[in-house]
Amino acid sequence: MSVGRRRLKLVGLLTMVNFFIYVIVEVSKSDSQDKDSKGQLLIPRDKFWKKRSASSAYWNREQQKLDRLYNPILNLLNNVTVEDLVAFNSSLLNSCDMDTSVQSEIKDFENLPDRFKDFLYYLRCKNYSLVLDQPQKCKDKPFLLLAIKSLTPQFDRRQAIRESWGKELKINNMTVVRVFLLGDTPTEDNNPDLSGMVRYESEKYKDILLWNYRDTFFNLTLKEVLFLKWVSHSCADVQFIFKGDDDVFVNTHQILDYLKTLSADKAKDLFIGDVIKDAGPHREKKLKYYIPESLYEGSYPPYAGGGGFLYSGSIALRLHNATSRVLLYPIDDVYTGMCLEKLGLAPEKHKGFKTFDIDEKHKKNICSYSNLMLVHPRKPQEMIRIWSQLQDSNLNC
Ligand SMILES: *[C@@H]1O[C@H](CO)[C@@H](O)[C@H](O)[C@H]1NC(C)=O
Ligand SMILES: *[C@@H]1O[C@H](CO)[C@@H](O)[C@H](O)[C@H]1NC(C)=O
Ligand SMILES: *[C@@H]1O[C@H](CO)[C@@H](O)[C@H](O)[C@H]1NC(C)=O
Ligand SMILES: *[C@@H]1O[C@H](CO)[C@@H](O)[C@H](O)[C@H]1NC(C)=O
Ligand SMILES: *[C@@H]1O[C@H](CO)[C@@H](O)[C@H](O)[C@H]1NC(C)=O
Ligand SMILES: *[C@@H]1O[C@H](CO)[C@@H](O)[C@H](O)[C@H]1NC(C)=O
Repeated sequence: MSVGRRRLKLVGLLTMVNFFIYVIVEVSKSDSQDKDSKGQLLIPRDKFWKKRSASSAYWNREQQKLDRLYNPILNLLNNVTVEDLVAFNSSLLNSCDMDTSVQSEIKDFENLPDRFKDFLYYLRCKNYSLVLDQPQKCKDKPFLLLAIKSLTPQFDRRQAIRESWGKELKINNMTVVRVFLLGDTPTEDNNPDLSGMVRYESEKYKDILLWNYRDTFFNLTLKEVLFLKWVSHSCADVQFIFKGDDDVFVNTHQILDYLKTLSADKAKDLFIGDVIKDAGPHREKKLKYYIPESLYEGSYPPYAGGGGFLYSGSIALRLHNATSRVLLYPIDDVYTGMCLEKLGLAPEKHKGFKTFDIDEKHKKNICSYSNLMLVHPRKPQEMIRIWSQLQDSNLNC
């Protein structure tokens, strides 16, 4: 047999072996996905060998490319390492130049609201830098890190949190530390110049992280990605993280009590919050969460509402890894759900997270707050009042 033919045979054999590995992986994947909550196997609707056709929605199409880039089986077949591919494609994956190709790649681009255009032009840029940092924040290996999404002008919310549920403290050997997550509010957008005030605030309280990207609703996903990067670099030893908004009340003591009781196994993979399942993009143009069909199709993976969720430091490090494999999505909590899904994890619903508030008739009763972890929304004054009432040693619930 000639060398050429032997080679051909070898390649053929390898291809077949790889194909079988692929089939096994696909079948086991559909196996784990198609079980209902009782663990019964459901009959798959599609043939498992059905070829995935290119999506007509831009995000899905670009994500498929990224999936291909990180597919170990296809890469094995072509004898390429992930490192090769990422290096090869790094300019495309991390480019911060305005990407005008979206104008022709998305069929109704011209008619999209401006916030979508802003988002899409810079979809691939994630490497913004810290303007204000707290590199020493985690030097004592905190038990719990409170990371609160805020906007520069919301000084009063941040101060109320400092004076109430966001106090930095040490109970027994558990340290709680706090950071606020901010982006830029550029004066080019006619924002008043608050840079001096936030700089002062950062020096006084040492709890401000500020990155140099435009702090808009669709850029909250950047806030998430950059925060996870910060955790990996500057807070990698933290045991647990609460991440949430600056208009929520958090019962920090209740959270600490809960975390103390966790087994080591449960603690490692903890991710809890107000979990939303079987949701998909809103197609109503007027809604804040509107997503056009030309951008995304399909449903969302389970995700925890961005008002606040609680997870382990170990998951934060893995999530940070996953962020390079998931294209930015304009809704931050959905994006986190997508990253979790990539890791083969799912957030767990905990009834202590009341992101849609509690019944009106219970709001005035302080005992309604003693067993919950989070309630949304609360104003600064309400945060301070609820917190001080909960600290009352005569409180009997
Ligand atoms: C690199 O990225 C481009 C654009 O996203 C894509 O078309 C191409 O297939 C990628 N290269 C490889 C080898 O996957
Ligand atoms: C595959 O890559 C390895 C390591 O880089 C190399 O030694 C080998 O010759 C390559 N095989 C083929 C068939 O190109
Ligand atoms: C991010 O990295 C790219 C390529 O490495 C570079 O061209 C760009 O200026 C950086 N962007 C920011 C905002 O730092
Ligand atoms: C705190 O101390 C207890 C008992 O000594 C120990 O079991 C626990 O792991 C410690 N927790 C932290 C965060 O160090
Ligand atoms: C997000 O921030 C970047 C960097 O400042 C900016 O170019 C982009 O327009 C912003 N995106 C949105 C949707 O505001
Ligand atoms: C992140 O990914 C790299 C390379 O794929 C891997 O070596 C590392 O262990 C991962 N880290 C975590 C925390 O998962």
